[in-house]
Amino acid sequence: MRILLVNGPNLGTLGRRQPEIYGTMTLAEIVDAARAHALDRGSRLDDFQSNHEGDLIDRLERLDYDGLIGNFGALSHTSYALHDALLATGRPAVEVHISDVMAREPWRRVLVTAPATRHQVIGRGWRGYLEAIDWLLDDAGP
Ligand code: DQA
Repeated sequence: MRILLVNGPNLGTLGRRQPEIYGTMTLAEIVDAARAHALDRGSRLDDFQSNHEGDLIDRLERLDYDGLIGNFGALSHTSYALHDALLATGRPAVEVHISDVMAREPWRRVLVTAPATRHQVIGRGWRGYLEAIDWLLDDAGP
């Protein structure tokens, strides 16, 4: 499976961004680990990070992947445009949140993108990305 891993606003600063919440791994380190895990499982993983909603949608529209993993950061709480873009891909998608958004500020409990994804991995730290890969490979179906 060709997997696209997409990260949205402020995830490019992982490692130094509120490490008590998001951990000390940089995004590059997380992507390396995710790519190695995907390769171990016979899959290829491409990645993309942007702080800009439109750029994220443009990337989704390329459709050069079979399954999608997305952490859209705060856009997950607000972006109907990303919700619609996810639906339009026709590809199985998993939404990841490193932190437990259900146990933080009330506004983080609203996930407008989640209904356009098939599965969510929340509050599992950076390893949540690996769980998302496993879900796509084991549970997303043909
Ligand atoms: C996040 C949670 C969001 O609420 C926040 O805005 C982020 C990161 C997470 O991975 O826990 O940027 O998506």
